[in-house]
Amino acid sequence: MKDIFRIAIDGPSGAGKSTIAKAVASGLGIDYIDTGAMYRAVGYKMNREGVPFEECDELRTMLDSTDIDFVKGDIILDGETVNTLIRTPEVSMLASKCSALPMVREKLVDIQRGMGTRKSVIMDGRDIGTNVLKDAEYKIFLTASAEERARRRFLELQEKGTPQEYDAVLEDIKQRDHNDMTRELNPLAKADDAIELNTDGLGIDEVVQAVLDIIR
Ligand code: DC
Repeated sequence: MKDIFRIAIDGPSGAGKSTIAKAVASGLGIDYIDTGAMYRAVGYKMNREGVPFEECDELRTMLDSTDIDFVKGDIILDGETVNTLIRTPEVSMLASKCSALPMVREKLVDIQRGMGTRKSVIMDGRDIGTNVLKDAEYKIFLTASAEERARRRFLELQEKGTPQEYDAVLEDIKQRDHNDMTRELNPLAKADDAIELNTDGLGIDEVVQAVLDIIR
């Protein structure tokens, strides 16, 4: 294994990317970068500040004065920890909407590339293997059926004390898949050189082990 290496994990919403990436990062002692959280932070801020979800001067001005960083696993937006504020179903949709805007992608991809140059990282998202870290040493495309992903999210929301109807969760997942795969700029796609892992019916430990086996 090289001294510095990058692992790209892509896949649709709810495939378990962040859970798996976090566990692999801690197993290998490297940093984890959750790029979805960065789109969430921007969607959250646009909504809070009433910035229209289109390419416009207001968005440019907002992005120029936006600072996003990770400190010890927390996501920091302009100095404020926003971990929980960005995890609502409403912000999920706002993130999906803002991620289609070229100005937003340009800004975040720039930050992400900077984070992936100085040290070993595992980065998860939709366009990491195809765009952000095209030359990553390891690329994994994590998938699961929409029904399985909806079932996991349904249980997660129940556990958090913010339950939603299963059908609404499934509809939400399908809508986001559609947005993520059909947007013009860097849509969700498997890189030609990525290894696909279908996680249907697999537990977290089994998937983490499968990823570690690929890397080692
Ligand atoms: O992984 P997530 O659900 O937290 O991501 C939120 C949204 O951000 C999702 O709808 C797709 C978008 N996203 C993206 O376009 N590119 C990435 N690299 C990561 C996320």
